[in-house]
Amino acid sequence: MSNHLQLQRDYKKGRVYMDLKKEIFVDIGILGGGPAGYVAAIRASQLGAKVALIEEKELGGVCLNVGCIPTKALLKSTDTISAIRRSKEFGINGYMENISWDIAVNRKNRIIKTLNMGVRQLLEAKKVTLLKGRGTALSDKIFSVQTAEGVVHVHCDKMILTTGASPLIPTINGINLNNVITSNEALNLDELPESIVIIGAGVIGIEFANMLCSAGVKVTVIELMDRILASEDSEAALELLKIMKRKGITFKLSASVTDIQKTDAGLAVSYTVGGKALNQPCKKVLVAVGRKLNIKPLQGLPLEVKKGVLIVNENMQTNIKGVYAAGDITGGKLLAHLAFMEGKVAAENAMGIKSKINDTAIPSCIYTNPEIASVGMTEDRARREGVVVKVGKFYFRNNGRALTLGEREGFVKVLADQNNIIIGGQIVGPHASELISELTLAITLKAKASVLADMIHPHPTLSEAIWEACGDVMGRAIHK
Ligand code: NAI
Repeated sequence: MSNHLQLQRDYKKGRVYMDLKKEIFVDIGILGGGPAGYVAAIRASQLGAKVALIEEKELGGVCLNVGCIPTKALLKSTDTISAIRRSKEFGINGYMENISWDIAVNRKNRIIKTLNMGVRQLLEAKKVTLLKGRGTALSDKIFSVQTAEGVVHVHCDKMILTTGASPLIPTINGINLNNVITSNEALNLDELPESIVIIGAGVIGIEFANMLCSAGVKVTVIELMDRILASEDSEAALELLKIMKRKGITFKLSASVTDIQKTDAGLAVSYTVGGKALNQPCKKVLVAVGRKLNIKPLQGLPLEVKKGVLIVNENMQTNIKGVYAAGDITGGKLLAHLAFMEGKVAAENAMGIKSKINDTAIPSCIYTNPEIASVGMTEDRARREGVVVKVGKFYFRNNGRALTLGEREGFVKVLADQNNIIIGGQIVGPHASELISELTLAITLKAKASVLADMIHPHPTLSEAIWEACGDVMGRAIHK
């Protein structure tokens, strides 16, 4: 059979046999198999497209392999450690012989594998052609993919670019020393270090600080700014800072790292605070100072890129007709759930359906103990933008369920406009990441605080704190 005939046959079957062909033809070619890419592939297939998905590593991207899922799997282990430590409070004399961190890491790896397989099965069921290899865009119609079997060219009518982001490595002396790691390596430690310095008090730095401290590691966080979690509501971030300090985490704020040295005992991080030079010894250093977007594979295209961010319109279309992008590469909030939606919107627009994201209600969650979750407007932003807001607040220490759980820290804050329509919410407290969806729905539906204040919430539940905070917006909270 000629190569051409084989190509056509495989095209119809939607499968690739690398040894037989070097060129494949699809409707939509997607570069990157993370949350944005694989969702785009599934959605485009649902809409009848022949799709090829190119991924050089594992399916699921950062989120599934080295981000959201693995950190939450390990967090379950450290939460269990915390529960054993606190067990006497609940009338149980639990004790811990030792921590087998390797078992926690293996459990985490098994979960990743299960989910990887799940994503693969979903894509195979949709007859998406999967290409494992490094892809680059040669033009707005062709990807070149370096697979183990050789170079494959993917010819496509439309492209969706979903190449994501990687840890940003700052230029600090000693950054390449052994035991200076990023979050990627921190997920695969054979054993827990005695002490760690975390550079950066953003989401990654704070989640790891919480997790490692719970596991008994001595944690010091060094942050350039005078606060933690710069993108969060400042009151919520301050509440968490106080709680984390009480847990024993040391924070050096307004501190600038100058270098990292190797010492007889391990490592030492030099930094300055207010012109004073200081030094923090430790066994490991975790660098968490942000992420850089993976633009390199796209250099063959004349794309509009500003400050490393690929520019798209509300339909996820780039400046090149027929070329769409989604996920971290398009900047903004680097969140997997936003990437899912952007991937869906990119696929729909590529298939001729005009759709866009509701960007007034994008929840974000930080998985610490307690958690922080927020959606919509914050008080800080309202002040900056001169928006007049009504604020309702309720503390978990006044919520019956929170007390039964032994989780009395934190609060729910609800922001409403002058017509009492809910426009924002922040939660610091137990299960905040689950609770935030009620406020996300309220914002999506443009609901008034009075609607939630009059809605019956089951008792005793944490969700009653939302009911009360909405009641507080209306000046009629009951248990305040
Ligand atoms: P980030 O941008 O959130 O925070 C980096 C922090 O490092 C900033 O506070 C910055 O001031 C500080 N910094 C920068 N250079 C420094 C230096 N030389 N010395 C000391 N401090 C320095 O970045 P991060 O934490 O790496 O997270 C990356 C992205 O991943 C974020 O956009 C985040 O939203 C996302 N992410 C989301 C998660 C979630 O939704 N739960 C979990 C983890 C990450």
